[in-house]
Amino acid sequence: MTATDIEVVKSDSPNTEGYHQFQLGEFTFSRDEYFVYIAWPTGSHMMSVDAFLRALQRDVAWDFFYGIVNFDGVFGTVNHYGTVDVFAGRYNDSYRKAELDYSENHETPAIRETFKSILADWTNSTFDPFASPHETGAAWGVKNGDNISAVTRRRVAAARMVGVPGDEQIRSDESGMPVNRMFLDVDQSEPVVEPEPGFEGEVAAFNLFSYLSRSDVTWNPSVVSACKDSLFCPTTEEYILPIIHGNDRVEWFIQLSDQITWDVEDRDTGAVRSRVTMKAGDVCAMPADIRHQGYSPKRSMLLVWENGSSDVPELIASGKAPTYPVEF
Ligand code: PHB
Ligand code: FE
Repeated sequence: MTATDIEVVKSDSPNTEGYHQFQLGEFTFSRDEYFVYIAWPTGSHMMSVDAFLRALQRDVAWDFFYGIVNFDGVFGTVNHYGTVDVFAGRYNDSYRKAELDYSENHETPAIRETFKSILADWTNSTFDPFASPHETGAAWGVKNGDNISAVTRRRVAAARMVGVPGDEQIRSDESGMPVNRMFLDVDQSEPVVEPEPGFEGEVAAFNLFSYLSRSDVTWNPSVVSACKDSLFCPTTEEYILPIIHGNDRVEWFIQLSDQITWDVEDRDTGAVRSRVTMKAGDVCAMPADIRHQGYSPKRSMLLVWENGSSDVPELIASGKAPTYPVEF
């Protein structure tokens, strides 16, 4: 299936607030000035439109990410890398016990195109779902233009390392990426690299702190280096991670600056497991059977280290690999 084969199902005309209604399988999606309404055969749900669009933006830009993207405690997606489940209440103990949970599996292109269309239609010109709340206008109100350039950003993914030939995505004043207001104290000098003759294309270094200080988005890891399946995905964070991430593998967090507090819950039920406060220099591993959401009071720098191997989810799900990374 290619994007052009896909027919996004949407209402012929907009509602009184100016927004279209969308349908994917038996799910319907609509919005008004403040809220998003999601309905499925056994129930319905509402979310604040800003929170919904921030979550939707990440699900689209990350192409459904690793494992589960919970938009909140009820609605979300599970990535099966080729198909995606759209669910309501599936990872919510109360919905499960009441047998009100509901899930549908869709080919990735179908959900991708539907979600992209919703994001484009429901995001007004004033709102950037990737920006920190302090650096964007409001999501509210009747339809007021669009922000297509903002909502079609994809995550930056180096195939080797930022700065080496082919991956030259260095951020600078010249490339129109100024230092963020909260990172004005970050040293901007670049390392001096002196490779032996013949190795000029092989040896590279860049100032990661400078690179991150110029990020104009929040909670959007970019891949800055790839060594086989080992992916370094640093990101700048401010306010709240707009999704609750239920991983299908272990991931490591290295807090590079400032502080993030993580709420950690059981991945399947949502039961509280712990609260982790990470200060600059702290390192932790998030197990593969939890879900987490981060809170960053100041703009901070976080390095997320992922094992991108497509074998890992099955190894963990079948019990061949543990849900935790190290035996002490
Ligand atoms: C995560 O779910 O692990 C995650 C997602 C986005 C971020 C940071 C961490 O910016
Ligand atoms: Fe995560």
